[in-house]
Amino acid sequence: MNKVVLAYSGGLDTSVAVAWLREQFGVEVVTLTIDVGGGSLRAGVERRAMSAGASKAYVIDARDRFTTDFVWPHLQANALYQGAYPLATALARPLIAQLLVEVAARESADAVAHGCTGKGNDQVRFDVAVHALDPGLEVVAPMRVGMGLSRDQEIDYAHERGIEIPITKSSPYSIDVNLWGRSCETGVLEDPWVAPPADAYEWTVAPSAAPDPVEVTIAFEGGIPVALDGDRLPPVELIERLHALGGAHGVGRIDHVEDRLVGIKSREIYEAPAATILHAAHRALEGLTLSKDTLRFDRLVADELAQLTYDGLWFSALHRDLRGYVASSQRVVSGDARIRLDHGSAIVVGRRSPLSLYDKSLATYDEGDAFDHAAAVGFIEIFGLPLRVEAARHGAVGKHHGAAWTWTDPLLDSLPTTIEEAAGATSA
Ligand code: ARG
Repeated sequence: MNKVVLAYSGGLDTSVAVAWLREQFGVEVVTLTIDVGGGSLRAGVERRAMSAGASKAYVIDARDRFTTDFVWPHLQANALYQGAYPLATALARPLIAQLLVEVAARESADAVAHGCTGKGNDQVRFDVAVHALDPGLEVVAPMRVGMGLSRDQEIDYAHERGIEIPITKSSPYSIDVNLWGRSCETGVLEDPWVAPPADAYEWTVAPSAAPDPVEVTIAFEGGIPVALDGDRLPPVELIERLHALGGAHGVGRIDHVEDRLVGIKSREIYEAPAATILHAAHRALEGLTLSKDTLRFDRLVADELAQLTYDGLWFSALHRDLRGYVASSQRVVSGDARIRLDHGSAIVVGRRSPLSLYDKSLATYDEGDAFDHAAAVGFIEIFGLPLRVEAARHGAVGKHHGAAWTWTDPLLDSLPTTIEEAAGATSA
């Protein structure tokens, strides 16, 4: 190992890592700082990297690329990990890995490095993605291979070497941000019964403190948001506006116990105002423009994509092919969704589309009804046929006891029904 490109946030850990890598391995260290929005770019990173001994400090604004190549495909797919987490951190990792590999090639470096610990998902995402892109690169994670210093030790280490460190109060949480969301974990949040303290939130006001509700109209083209209230906006600006608006209305707080890739359950607090609003709006528009079968199939694709992304398998063939399906199925998802931001909720209150499959003359119960009521009888006759045959051959699932009719299911009758019974079953 001669030259390493280190993913550098500009925080204490990675600042110390610059010097540690040089001293430990005698390598040249080039830092790479990536702006993925949401306040991820800190002031003075270049200067700090150089003070820590980097030979060169790259700073790349990747907000557009992040949005177009990573965030939008997942919004189009409605991908939420375990139905809850909009994947903000998980989506940024493959992009950072891609840029690490690009800079390594340009710098003729033979290794890349990141500041992840050995317990989370992020290390897996970086390592797997880097090796998918360039199997010849070595990946070093100082925190995993001996740089285990406490916060105070890191501060001393930095002082001894004249490394400039950021003057931030030490947070009780481990936080990661980008324009799609803020992830907050550890500290008191590790007890899943404890309500998150106010200081766990930074992007959203408490829903009870939100001002009067407002409505916003979001226009989509091919499943991608393009305008707010009639203003056509570039991707990053659109997200930033919804971020501010949603945050001011307390929208986008997510309290989730999630299953990490490394096999443990972990409690996470997310704030994702723009993602929450856009996911709601996008699904509303899909309800109008996609067929019943596509909508059902898309739920499988959404779960699969979310899982692959969460697990760091962005650069797998399956991930690429699923994205291809999503892009194709989204071509008709164009139109507007109207969302009311009301004390923490993003409520869909309207949708319209020139490609709508909704036909008022078929749906109406009023005058102008074009639906053939008489044809329903024949349809039901055929549709219900298998159940009638089953009941005739295997017995009906309901029973008459004199005048009363009961539903019978012998299996369900034997399962514990109270918390006490269930607790007895696990302790026995
Ligand atoms: N649990 C989330 C994920 O795996 C967020 C991780 C955030 N990282 C952090 N250092 N707080 O995607």
